[in-house]
Amino acid sequence: MARVLVLYSTTDGHTVEICKRIGERLGTHGAEVQLADLKDSPRLADYEFDKIVIGASIRYGKHQPVVSEFISANQAVLEAHPNALFSVNVVARKPEKNTPETNPYLQKFLKKISWQPQNLGVFAGKIDYPSLGLFDKQMIRLIMWITKGPTDPTLTVEFTDWDKVDEFGDMVAGM
Ligand SMILES: Cc1cc2nc3c(=O)[nH]c(=O)nc-3n(C[C@H](O)[C@H](O)[C@H](O)COP(=O)(O)O)c2cc1C
Repeated sequence: MARVLVLYSTTDGHTVEICKRIGERLGTHGAEVQLADLKDSPRLADYEFDKIVIGASIRYGKHQPVVSEFISANQAVLEAHPNALFSVNVVARKPEKNTPETNPYLQKFLKKISWQPQNLGVFAGKIDYPSLGLFDKQMIRLIMWITKGPTDPTLTVEFTDWDKVDEFGDMVAGM
C-alpha cells in the first residue's frame, strides 16, 4: 500500500478540503494518506511515506512564506520521492489561467524556488464573503469587480472543479 504524505498551507481551510478530497480519491486506489499543516513545522523524519504532495493557497498574491521555507529546508527529501505541488487561488477560476503553465502565481512561485516538482496542479478556490473581516471583504470585492467576478458580500462562491481535484488524486496514485 502506497503511503502518501500531503502537506498543506491554508488560511481559511479550503486547501484542507481539497487535500481531504485528494486523500479520499487516493483511498479508492488503496493508498494510505497522512495530512499535515506546514504551519505546525512538520518534520519529515517523523513520517513514513512513499510519495509527497504539497498544496498551498494564495493570499494577496503570495503563498505563505512557510511554503518556500519548508521546500528549501527539505528539498533533498522531496527530490528523493515521487512528488507534486499544487496551488489554490481564485485567478484559476478563469479558463485561461487554470493550468500549471498558465497560472501566474504557480509560475512565479516556481521561479522563486529551486525545487522542480515532478507534477503540478492548480485549483480554483473559494470566496466566502460572510466569513471575511471588513478590510479583506472590501479588498476581495474590489479585486472581483476589477476581474469581473462576484461582488455580492452575502455570497459564498466555490469555484473549485472537484472533478479536476479527483483527476489530480488519480495522477498522484499513479506517480
Ligand atoms: C484576503 C484574501 C486575499 C486573497 N488574495 C488572492 C489573490 O491575490 N489572488 C487570488 O487568485 N486569490 C486570492 N484569494 C483567494 C484564495 O486563494 C481562495 O479564497 C482560496 O480558496 C483560499 O484557500 P485557503 O482557505 O486554503 O486559504 C484571496 C482570498 C482572501 C480571503
